[in-house]
Amino acid sequence: MTSILVLHGPNLNLLGEREPHIYGHDTLDDINGRLAAMCASNGHEFQTLQSNAEHELVDRLHAARNDGTDFILINPGAFTHTSVALLDAFLATGIPFIEVHLSNLHRREDFRQKSFLASAAVGTIVGLGAQGYELALQAAFKQLADKT
Ligand code: DQA
Repeated sequence: MTSILVLHGPNLNLLGEREPHIYGHDTLDDINGRLAAMCASNGHEFQTLQSNAEHELVDRLHAARNDGTDFILINPGAFTHTSVALLDAFLATGIPFIEVHLSNLHRREDFRQKSFLASAAVGTIVGLGAQGYELALQAAFKQLADKT
């Protein structure tokens, strides 16, 4: 069975309450619940972690090297725009990933225009709200199916 890891960065534990005009009304549990159901019905294992700490996300990526993780979805939150450490961790794991953002970064502040991770990602989805995660997961299913 293939295994998909979904990582959520800082402040995403507050989804549903946090600036809902930007990030929507769905909670993280709502989003994870839908992704878990999609994985179950497609025969994939679903794992997830939300952390506000950069080192916990880095440590989880290191663990993914040896725990059978086949594909990763990540919304790195603000670490998108700051974290060489996360980029290096992804390069070290070599596991393919898709970067997801709820908001359309291209329409936002200058400091949100740069992603340190995007150059290493299979692809990115921005601006489609919570649906972006489901679209990314469908893309992950296709990538995994094409590989086998
Ligand atoms: C975000 C965009 C980031 O700039 C921001 O820091 C977030 C959420 C998004 O999903 O739109 O925390 O990643």
